[in-house]
Amino acid sequence: MNSWHHKHILTLENFSKEDFKIVIELAHKFNSLNSFEIENLPSLKGSLITSLFFEPSTRTKNSFELAAKRLSADFLSFHPSSSSLSKGETCLDTARTYCSMGSSILIIRHSLNNIPFEIAKNLDSLGLKTSVLNAGDGFHSHPSQGLLDLYTLTKFFSPTNLDPNILLKKTILIIGDILHSRVARSNIWSLSAFGANIVLCGPKTLIPDEFANFLSSKHQDEIEDPIRDRGKITISRSLEQSIKNADAVITLRLQKERMKTNLLNSVKSYSDDYCLTTQKLDLCDKEIPVLHPGPINREVEISSQIVDSYSNCLINDQVANGVPVRMALLYLLSTVNLGFRAI
Ligand code: NCD
Repeated sequence: MNSWHHKHILTLENFSKEDFKIVIELAHKFNSLNSFEIENLPSLKGSLITSLFFEPSTRTKNSFELAAKRLSADFLSFHPSSSSLSKGETCLDTARTYCSMGSSILIIRHSLNNIPFEIAKNLDSLGLKTSVLNAGDGFHSHPSQGLLDLYTLTKFFSPTNLDPNILLKKTILIIGDILHSRVARSNIWSLSAFGANIVLCGPKTLIPDEFANFLSSKHQDEIEDPIRDRGKITISRSLEQSIKNADAVITLRLQKERMKTNLLNSVKSYSDDYCLTTQKLDLCDKEIPVLHPGPINREVEISSQIVDSYSNCLINDQVANGVPVRMALLYLLSTVNLGFRAI
């Protein structure tokens, strides 16, 4: 645990295997304590954590809030519609306002790529100690989702000893709107780190061919990839074909709010090809786990039958796991910020 060194959590591109393991092992510890009967842990008592969600959210926002409360932190929640944004205040000045109130962590979601990065850079340049936790920026990055999906899949495949290396050479099929999905990008970083091979499945308009080079092209002129032996990415246009070899499947919502032009002939034709149904799932000879980050659009990307009756549908587990994973992230950032505290 003492080897945690990230002041901000903005992306999973710079996470080592050790970083991933620290998070999921701590989350697992919190998970075992997380029940209705126990009292909140005192770990972050006296700290102030603030969420700045410039874009709507149900799961992520509330599970961060619950995570902070489970650790006894004070929690402030910023609401754009009733804030001074309407008076012309910028996101950056809003963030700095909450730093001045003593926030040790700002949890930021924004519809534009890189806003949490820019805020973190600005706070650092001012010498402020506040950490930034990216809760989703545009189509770029959603680290806490990538981590909770890694935790959920690791727990599924390795329930007794929680070893993410169990993902080595597993085929994870991610279906749908990869182009606009920060979840897909963060999942690619977290799952490929332990050698899982990723198959991206969908039409060319939502998964351009260049995505096959995503992992190598990202690191060209930036920091060196801390992981040398990542799994590979391939692209498939056929769900019927690719499901046959999958060990797990992640379905995604069509992110219509980010589509600048019409990328589909019709939602009906998209669903005919790419909606995950029990008929398509039956083409795989194993009972593979099915994940979805939510919010789900029933019968568009996933059928109600799978959501409501398939025993390996892990959507509710993902939501439940989001709380201990986010507790782990808040806790780890506070060890950088405030010095180590006992759980
Ligand atoms: C996702 C998001 O906001 O990126 N949801 C989430 O955080 N659970 C996916 C989506 O909006 O489709």
